[in-house]
Amino acid sequence: MSAEKTENLNWIDKRFPLTETWRAHISEYYAPKNLNFWSFFGSLAVLTLVIQIVTGIWLAMNYKPDADMAFASVEYIMRDVDWGWLIRYMHSTGASAFFIVIYLHMFRALLWGSYRKPRELLWIIGVVIYLVMMATAFFGYLLPWGQMSYWGAQVIVNLFAAVPVVGEDLSIWVRGDYVISDATLNRFFAFHFLLPFLLVGLIFLHVVALHHVGSNNPDGIEIKDGPKGNRWSDKAPADGIPFHPYYTVKDLVGVVVFLALFSIVMFFMPTFGGLFIEAANFEPANPMQTPEHIAPVWYFTPYYAMLRAVPPMWDSQFPGVAVMFGAILILFVLPWLDRSPVKSMRYKGPIFKSATAIFAVSFIALAWLGLQPVTDLYTLLSQIFTALYFAYFLLMPIYSALEKTKPVPERVTS
Ligand code: HEM
Repeated sequence: MSAEKTENLNWIDKRFPLTETWRAHISEYYAPKNLNFWSFFGSLAVLTLVIQIVTGIWLAMNYKPDADMAFASVEYIMRDVDWGWLIRYMHSTGASAFFIVIYLHMFRALLWGSYRKPRELLWIIGVVIYLVMMATAFFGYLLPWGQMSYWGAQVIVNLFAAVPVVGEDLSIWVRGDYVISDATLNRFFAFHFLLPFLLVGLIFLHVVALHHVGSNNPDGIEIKDGPKGNRWSDKAPADGIPFHPYYTVKDLVGVVVFLALFSIVMFFMPTFGGLFIEAANFEPANPMQTPEHIAPVWYFTPYYAMLRAVPPMWDSQFPGVAVMFGAILILFVLPWLDRSPVKSMRYKGPIFKSATAIFAVSFIALAWLGLQPVTDLYTLLSQIFTALYFAYFLLMPIYSALEKTKPVPERVTS
């Protein structure tokens, strides 16, 4: 580095811990040497959030959060604003891509046991991120003011009315009116603009927590507790390698593949068969006409299927609402449900492995069932898969403690 650059850097370092931070979190942050495909999704989640914030700000430059103008302003963006169609499709594709990446990121944590000690708080911050992501997506979904936007929001906000005692007032408070209206659209736009910045803050906490405890790995071995000394440092974990340049370069491979897939969808199938943008949403919202079949976007449908699986009791939908929210809130206690002596699925026994596979199949099946119109068969299937979803968590303290596990090696394996 040139003398002048060094001088400038020294000047900065005396006033701001730039080199120190770079070293501690990038060039001298030692991550396990055996991280694989599953580690791509953290950085891809960062990338997708950046895509959403940048395209969101550009969309906001022409979008009108007004019930009389919203739908037309999206049409205007699509047809008349230079590259407006691209920015819109980047944002709509980005929304689904974000959830695909996050579900794979969360599933990786289930496989590696990355919610176990010492990563309980890292996981809990993650679950909070997931909740804020869902709120952001829900608020954003109303903004195009299409038929499915309008009625989807109507259905979901009405669920608040099922909450005993305060429900009615709560749903009016959320809407700002007795039905979804211009007041609702305005406040949803404000929240949809604000929450991504809250996400940025939460992700900062998430990564700080990660770097404090260290990254987990497919073997679930704490490299920090293992032998010290590698070719970069005598003090660093022997099974660790510097995050930069090794994993920054590796993550770039994930980024290139992701952006290629992203572009194929964005340019050639932006509605993705109605999964990413529903056909009904190409019609402006009509409060006088209910669509034949109302369903939220696919990343919400597992929970929507659970809601519909629980029959109303005493004319109240509250039991279904409780099950739906319970399915997410139970994630907060996961670190304390798993009593297995080992972290990673690699060394867990057949019961835990099958339970995790059944859990994944149930979640995907519920996602599909939530998109379908209600029939007796689909309701029965939703009830079965909802029961299997909860069984994974509620029975975990038993099957994780009971079953025999394989011995975990001293050092990480490839
Ligand atoms: C916008 C959303 C998110 C972003 C940007 C993000 C970012 C990251 C990054 C960069 C890493 C390190 C690289 C990696 O191991 O993948 C990571 C690790 C982790 N994340 Fe997230 N994350 C997000 C959401 C979540 C959610 C929703 C959860 C769980 C509910 C979660 C749980 C974890 C866990 C447990 C780890 C540690 C993994 C390990 O060490 O094995 N994250 N996250």
